[in-house]
Amino acid sequence: MAATSLDQIVSLSKRRGFVFAGSEIYGGLANSWDFGPLGAVLKENIRNFWLERFVMKRQDMVMIDAAIMMNPKVWEASGHVKNFNDVKIDCKECKARFRADHLIEEKFPEMKVEGKSSKELTEIIREKNISCPRCGKKGTFTDARILNLLFKTSFGMIEGEESRDIYLRGEIAQAMFVNFKNVLTTTRKRLPFGIASTGKAFRNEITPGNFIFRTLEFDLMEFEYFIRENEWEQWFDYWQKEEQKWLNDLGVDPKKLRVREHSSDELSHYSKKTVDIEYETPFGWKELFGLAYRTNFDLKNHMEQSGEDLQYTDPDTNEKLIPHVIEPTFGLSRLTLVILLDAYHEEKLENGEDRIVMKFPSRLAPVQVAILPLSKDERLITKAQEVYELLNKNTNLRLDFDVTGSIGKRYRRQDEIGTPTCITIDFGTIGDDDKQCKKDHVTVRDRDSLKQEEVKIQDLISILSL
Ligand code: GAP
Repeated sequence: MAATSLDQIVSLSKRRGFVFAGSEIYGGLANSWDFGPLGAVLKENIRNFWLERFVMKRQDMVMIDAAIMMNPKVWEASGHVKNFNDVKIDCKECKARFRADHLIEEKFPEMKVEGKSSKELTEIIREKNISCPRCGKKGTFTDARILNLLFKTSFGMIEGEESRDIYLRGEIAQAMFVNFKNVLTTTRKRLPFGIASTGKAFRNEITPGNFIFRTLEFDLMEFEYFIRENEWEQWFDYWQKEEQKWLNDLGVDPKKLRVREHSSDELSHYSKKTVDIEYETPFGWKELFGLAYRTNFDLKNHMEQSGEDLQYTDPDTNEKLIPHVIEPTFGLSRLTLVILLDAYHEEKLENGEDRIVMKFPSRLAPVQVAILPLSKDERLITKAQEVYELLNKNTNLRLDFDVTGSIGKRYRRQDEIGTPTCITIDFGTIGDDDKQCKKDHVTVRDRDSLKQEEVKIQDLISILSL
């Protein structure tokens, strides 16, 4: 099968209700996207799988759900106000804006410009006479300038009164550090342990794009795993393997995954070692997840700036220490795109028809079982409703009930939304046609093998709950 293009995913997402352009009826808003009825469920299924794996089934992990807006002092102490920057450059001719380092690296991939100052980047762009990728003109760039990625907003906008600048959170990690003491005293956890959180983060990205891959607001899932300093390498390896294992359990194609360690110039201001798990997207190898050793940088700075004692006291020895941190971070919006890309298949059927099928793993599929009466005959609809009720009451399966259009069209729709199982109720089911299935039996169709099997209605619960 030819590699899936982003256009195929964008088009299917709109057609079937995974992702819509944000504010579409007003002409949209650049790079803003809304998850539709199926996309929202897909994303929540991924989040729930993550919570189950990394929080609910572990004794060493707790979860918090923190505010998006925090005291601005948090972002000063964390170093984000000073260091969470990219360098931007504008084309005076067509007004397009670019990340200066990307502009150079795209023209000269062998040139490494990580860590260079805005002045140095401006000089390289001028020396190499790089043209604007949008309008093609040369010599039209402004000087490169630093842009802070924190998203500023105002607090208390009362007319005539001064408002106060605050930031929407640029990462969700800070809430885990700021709440470290609260969590420690209320849960009495011992090292090593983790604090997890999921939710939206906001960044003033200079070059957002590639659909939901890079946006200004996005969903993140991450945890801070608190350890003793001398154990960091062991825990770093452990969490790298766990991240990879989880991707494997999500069914992501291993051939499209690789690990890349950050060079020292590339490291974030808080990190001593970072690796990215990258995925081969239609637009190149890109970061999917990160894993960072943040030392005790954050707790130490918050302790100094807030004046609160954020040390951990060993309950056996009374030793006091500021724990170090390993941070596995999982971009949820980005992972949702990867799951869509990986699931997309175009196939030719034996009868010569083409089909598009989303091969989601069953636990992620927005609909797991579709119940389809063969026609709109009242007797079939009533029987199909009984089957729906039976499964709804006795299983946790996500069900769909569809009576519109021909059965062939309904199968195509269920394939495109990735439903692993379809159940068809025909005239045989109600004992009215011995050429169709047996009385009180239904036809169960498997999305991937396309095999169809007759199953007794009463056996559906045990068969589908497997
Ligand atoms: N607390 C660490 C942290 O936030 P990061 O590498 O800056 O680390 C974490 O971001 C993850 O968030 C990335 O691995 C990526 O999956 C996702 N991500 C980052 N920027 C994004 C953006 N603009 N749009 C969508 N996802 C993004």
